[in-house]
Amino acid sequence: MGGPCATSGCGAKVGKKGARPMKPLDVLMPVEGMGLIGEMIATRLPVHRLWLEPNPDLWLVEWGPRIRAIALAGHFRADEAYLRQFPNLEIISSFGVGYDHIDAKAASRLGIIVTNTPGVLDDEVADTALGLMIMTVRQLPQAERYLRAGLWLEGAYPLTPSLRGRTVGIVGLGRIGKAIATRVSAFGLDVVYHGRNPQADVAYRYFPSLVDMAKAADILIVVAPGGPATRHIVDAEVLAALGPDGVLINVARGSLVDEGALIEALRTGQILAAGLDVYENEPSVPAELIALPNAVLLPHVGSASVKTRRAMAERVVANIFAWADGKPPLTPVPETPWPGRWGRGG
Ligand code: 8YV
Repeated sequence: MGGPCATSGCGAKVGKKGARPMKPLDVLMPVEGMGLIGEMIATRLPVHRLWLEPNPDLWLVEWGPRIRAIALAGHFRADEAYLRQFPNLEIISSFGVGYDHIDAKAASRLGIIVTNTPGVLDDEVADTALGLMIMTVRQLPQAERYLRAGLWLEGAYPLTPSLRGRTVGIVGLGRIGKAIATRVSAFGLDVVYHGRNPQADVAYRYFPSLVDMAKAADILIVVAPGGPATRHIVDAEVLAALGPDGVLINVARGSLVDEGALIEALRTGQILAAGLDVYENEPSVPAELIALPNAVLLPHVGSASVKTRRAMAERVVANIFAWADGKPPLTPVPETPWPGRWGRGG
């Protein structure tokens, strides 16, 4: 087993005049994400890349107590049992705005701060949502496949459904939901929304019931956070309410949609089409879904541009460096607000 720096860039200790006295802040990366994250952190702090360790479990037993920060890429599951392996863990800096893979309530109980990367990806994900909506309704991927297959020579691609005159129901009017709503409005379509509460500062019509909104809307765009509270909120009843001309777009988490019910609704024509960027069991996508001609399927690319992913990586690193410098974390999640002191709380 390697020592703490065997798989690390061991950066210099950071100590600034006026900042709290520094202990070395050892940063663990449990899974490989953007190389840039580890490279940037390693310019100042020791980084341990667990996936390079020959025996990660043994490494954790020996070095877990030394870890005070985790930089988390992807949707690596950090539940309470996982967090308890790190008795001195102070901060988890997670890549992405969604953090349903982390038990943030357990982190709060244990005195661990969780940060995410809000704000820097709103427009990118909203752009993707609009692209996916147009692709799905106007069958653009299908039309492109038609041309590539040489079928245009035999006749024009069939006429498609239209966006015109549709009402778009947004499920979750947070930052990204609002960026989507602005774009949808600019397209000349009506916007309505559903969420836990009506929002005072928006003019769109609010539906307290998702089923009622699905009845009133022609397109549902799902952009609410994942996690137990929203699991399968788009179920058979909501899909039935959406109806045979209805379209479902999901750029949030696969867990919000009952995938079995969706496959059935698409197969039987209970709804018209679906455009999905996320799935219940990523990166595995059910063969039944892949076989459906009325589903447009993207491999979770909502925020995946070079520019936006870089901004997200920089935010992950900025949260870790702020902590190392004795400053408050930049973007703690609501469950773990900064308590006004550093170190392990709980
Ligand atoms: C990220 C996302 O690409 O921010 C999120 O919550 O789902 C995406 O924008 C993803 O987290 C990276 O794994």
